[in-house]
Amino acid sequence: MKPRQIVDSIWSVGAVDWDRRLFDSLIPLPDGTSYNSYLVKGSEKAALLDAVDPSKADILLENLKDIPSLDYLIAHHGEQDHSGSIPLILEKYPKVTLICSPKAKGILIDHLGLSADRIVTVADGEMLSLGDRTLEFIHTPWVHWPETMCTYAREDRILFSCDFFGSHYAQSDLFIRDEAEIYLAARRYFAEIMMPFRTAIQKNLERIKGLKIDYIAPSHGPIYDRPAFILDAYREWISDKPKNSVVIAYVSMHGSTEKMVNHLVAALAERGVAAHLFNLAGVDLGKLASALVDASTIVLGSPAVHFGLHPNVASAAFLANALRPKAKFAALIGSYGWGQKMTEQALGLLPNLKVEVLPPLLVKGMPKEADFRAVEKLAETIAQKHKESGLL
Ligand code: FEO
Repeated sequence: MKPRQIVDSIWSVGAVDWDRRLFDSLIPLPDGTSYNSYLVKGSEKAALLDAVDPSKADILLENLKDIPSLDYLIAHHGEQDHSGSIPLILEKYPKVTLICSPKAKGILIDHLGLSADRIVTVADGEMLSLGDRTLEFIHTPWVHWPETMCTYAREDRILFSCDFFGSHYAQSDLFIRDEAEIYLAARRYFAEIMMPFRTAIQKNLERIKGLKIDYIAPSHGPIYDRPAFILDAYREWISDKPKNSVVIAYVSMHGSTEKMVNHLVAALAERGVAAHLFNLAGVDLGKLASALVDASTIVLGSPAVHFGLHPNVASAAFLANALRPKAKFAALIGSYGWGQKMTEQALGLLPNLKVEVLPPLLVKGMPKEADFRAVEKLAETIAQKHKESGLL
């Protein structure tokens, strides 16, 4: 995309990546993404806010071709999808000063091999005058690295938030055009990288609470011209209270576990509990992560493989443990051929979760009538736990 003006003094000069389908070699990107970079031109100085992923550096450089001089390059975050083309910007503008938080300085040097004398660090709340425009730096650590910060353009009332409030979503419009679509994209993005840091996110939301914000301009996805939409969504996602829902992540090899989880879904529905069923053979991990944002209960469904969990189930448990969702209860169901040690293994994979572990339900071979009654009992227990927690 060519440079696009947001307000009188500010342009979007980054790149849309329609084709990217995987991030961190892990996270599916069904809607592509963008690497947003913003140019702020004051009456005396000009600043570029973030660079782009190195794969799209040619677009950023093309968008800057008519900008002969740049005074400041502000790096909100050291991860390479924003910082990776900083060396090219430093080369193009030999006199530009690179500005970042104190914690980011070492990260940028380590990751990009930058020279320390090109970097100036700024404190939380520090201001930078560009003449008739003023930038205020706001430290917002752990969204999702320790060094992250935002910039607030005071006169234009724009918060440049980098990953904070972002969404992996490619579109040609500069501003959000469909809040329902972006809600889902921003939620899965929050789940994938920020959910483990909910306490820090809570503090950061408090930190920006007093700002008068007309636009939130993240470094992925469209700009929010109704900031309350994404601020309200974040308040909901970081709250400690889960919803009346169950995430069931399972694999079935010969149909036994599948019969059990399907029966569990129906039994939960009869009791007014919403279930989200994920067959881990071919699951979209982003959807699974998103469902974990407010689930009260996590159920793992696994057949025994050499006594232990199916590797896909172990992988999902490992991911859930890393994402630290707010779930209050967990359970294991499944089947085995001749013996199993799945319970100990599952518990060992979930040390970060503050959950009450419900009694496991593991059957030998195909589930029989008594086993289906036991599944219904598990559904009843989950419904009762949700009721006692004020969720149902
Ligand atoms: Fe979009 Fe953490 O980088």
